[in-house]
Amino acid sequence: MRGKARGGALRALLVAALAWTASAGHAAADPQLCFACHGENGNSSNPAVPSLSAQPAQFIATQLIMFREKRRTNPLMSPIAAPLTNPEITALGKFFAAQTRAVPPGKPADDVMASGKRITEQFNCVACHGASLHGQQHIPRLAGQQADYLRVQLQGFKAGTRFDMDGNMTAAAQPLTAPDIDVLAQYLAALE
Ligand code: HEC
Ligand code: HEC
Repeated sequence: MRGKARGGALRALLVAALAWTASAGHAAADPQLCFACHGENGNSSNPAVPSLSAQPAQFIATQLIMFREKRRTNPLMSPIAAPLTNPEITALGKFFAAQTRAVPPGKPADDVMASGKRITEQFNCVACHGASLHGQQHIPRLAGQQADYLRVQLQGFKAGTRFDMDGNMTAAAQPLTAPDIDVLAQYLAALE
């Protein structure tokens, strides 16, 4: 069931990638083209694709440059970032930073919310990602992000496989256990 849903989601992404390639000239920075994968106004409904709405403009721009320079890679995202110019990247960052993050669809049980909050304080997530976990400058917003995406990124930082510009996040993920990561993913996804 889950496998089937994922297959469907993947196919939708591949169709979007093809549409992108086909849009010759693609006025590359039209944010509408990003909606195909990242959702309307950057509010993703695909568990594997991050929301971009209300992310700090600098974070979006930095990541797009890292994809373009092949320092962060992803088979779907890399070809999209490849042709973007610096002014287009700046404009995309500003556009998505100005969009409103959708209200999360639900909340996990109270004990999950309480442990999530405790972990983000104990391991200083709030010191970098901000008191409300809305991000700042080159540090991403975590509040209201897709839970599956958050889980995969945290597992990747812990394993040292997720791109990390300064090593801070890889270091921050080291003390997290698998259950901590699971709680964090559910907690962060439910925050406004
Ligand atoms: C074909 C699907 C697809 C399209 C179209 C697409 N993206 Fe992405 N994007 C992805 C995927 C998948 C990821 C997650 C990559 C990963 O897991 O490392 C991603 C990641 C990102 C990230 C990193 C976000 C984060 O939280 O780390 C940014 C920024 C981004 N995309 C911006 C854009 C912009 C701007 C556009 C339009 C110009 C765009 N994307 C179009 C699939 C797409
Ligand atoms: C010292 C500062 C710092 C601390 C502490 C920190 N982070 Fe981060 N985090 C970052 C930076 C910087 C990035 C962007 C990394 C990059 O892509 O180069 C990041 C990225 C992330 C991402 C990827 C999000 C995305 O959209 O791609 C997640 C998830 C995350 N942090 C969760 C956490 C959690 C949970 C904690 C606490 C356990 C934490 N962070 C603690 C600085 C920090």
